[in-house]
Amino acid sequence: MATAMYRPALGSATTAFLARKHQMLIDGQWVDARSGQTFAVEDPATQEVIAHVPAGDKADIDLAVAAARRAFETGPWSRISPAARQRLVWSLGDLIERDADELAELEALDNGKPVTNARRDDVGGSIEMFRYMAGWATRLNGEQIPVSSPGDWHVYSLREPVGVVGQIIPWNFPLMMAAWKLAPALAAGCTIVLKPAEQTPLSALRLGELILEAGFPDGVVNIVTGYGETAGAALAEHSDVDKIAFTGSTEVGKLIVKAAAGNLKRVSLELGGKSPAIVFPDADLDRAIAGTASAIFYNQGQCCTAGSRLFAHQSVYDKIVEGVCQEAGKLKVGHGLDPSVNLGPLVSNEQRTRVVGFLEAGRQEGAEVVTGGKVMGDQGYFVEPTVLARTDRTMKVVREEIFGPVVCVQSFDDSDLDAVAKFANDTEYGLSASVWTRNLKVAHMMARKIRAGTVCINTHNYGDPAWPFGGYKQSGWGREMGKEVMEHYTETKAVAARL
Ligand code: NAI
Ligand code: MG
Repeated sequence: MATAMYRPALGSATTAFLARKHQMLIDGQWVDARSGQTFAVEDPATQEVIAHVPAGDKADIDLAVAAARRAFETGPWSRISPAARQRLVWSLGDLIERDADELAELEALDNGKPVTNARRDDVGGSIEMFRYMAGWATRLNGEQIPVSSPGDWHVYSLREPVGVVGQIIPWNFPLMMAAWKLAPALAAGCTIVLKPAEQTPLSALRLGELILEAGFPDGVVNIVTGYGETAGAALAEHSDVDKIAFTGSTEVGKLIVKAAAGNLKRVSLELGGKSPAIVFPDADLDRAIAGTASAIFYNQGQCCTAGSRLFAHQSVYDKIVEGVCQEAGKLKVGHGLDPSVNLGPLVSNEQRTRVVGFLEAGRQEGAEVVTGGKVMGDQGYFVEPTVLARTDRTMKVVREEIFGPVVCVQSFDDSDLDAVAKFANDTEYGLSASVWTRNLKVAHMMARKIRAGTVCINTHNYGDPAWPFGGYKQSGWGREMGKEVMEHYTETKAVAARL
């Protein structure tokens, strides 16, 4: 593991984007914050400032919400046909594909993630999300409803866009989170105010340029850069926002719920996780080792679905711990723009401080640091991929979301699936889980017993635009993707006509 500093060789499009003045998109115009304030955006691998963006706050959110309201009620968007909406949403996928290399570079530079992953997963996943969701624009039909009331009736339902939507997204998959939020809302005919995370605003601003190029009418998508406590809070409590969609920490998710109570806006939340990866004795161990290592180290562990609690049956425990440590040792750590790197820095100093605090807590509570456990290098926010063994349910590192490349391993010796599930379900979260076994019955029985929104069998961190994704318990409200997400962006209106 080495963090030999890599001089990023940026493509000309990326260099040109970085050289432009960065502004916010409000009502089809690029504008500064009303306050004139900006903040710096840094490369987390070098700590160099790479851009300044406007520090939008309540005043800017007010303007953006007003623009979104006008576009929703009176603009051309309010009269657009479903097929035209479908074409626009689809074309955004095409434009992202055209500029895929540039977007992947921006993502690697801004977030720190390996550019190869950014190109395949973040950019590739965003393209597919716009294409999948485009199809929903022409499929949002209501139903004719047979009623039993006396007399002759024609009763039916309409599905209408929910209205002006506020969307607050995190920094771990900046472009893809924007795509997950924007694509279904646009397909449904909503208008949007998007607030990217302050750590990673760049790909959303580039996406804003593509949105204008695609030909979306003014005010349909507004993008306000700013801090959570100011811009984010103003959006969550705005009385003219009909729905808020949030991805981030459970702590802020609870603040969003309180803020939304003012006008009872609709709320969907995708929050934290502490997802179990459970390895049964009959698993294909090579696959289970590679898969559970990737479950925690992918994206530097900054995944809401990260397999952060690894449960290995006692008969394979030693092999699993040794194998995951070997996988950690194979990772090349360095600047995300180096195409041979597969573990980048954490996103920020704040995030590294959090993770280091957890490592300290784990040591104090008696977890065994089998590999890793320290920060790396003298520049950038690098943390070693870390395996904590002999952990137990009482430890802070097992109970709380770390959001770093740190896995807590526990062993189990039970063959009773209910007992194993109880172990796995011993968390306030319920976002995801993986089960590693060759036994079909065990796999599918465990899938039923686990209290989580998604369960993977012999894989982890799976995703597809058609796959409904979200959490049980304190991992959130509602589902993103699939047909389920369209429920959040539409209202059902029931019409009764006496004939
Ligand atoms: P955060 O929840 O504070 O930030 C996520 C988004 O919410 C950002 O856009 C931020 O500006 C906004 N925000 C922050 N405070 C807000 C407020 N009062 N009102 C409205 N919006 C607000 O997450 P943070 O502080 O960056 O990370 C802390 C921890 O949260 C991480 O260590 C991780 O455990 C968890 N997290 C989980 C994510 C997930 O995908 N589920 C993503 C990011 C963080
Ligand atoms: Mg925060």
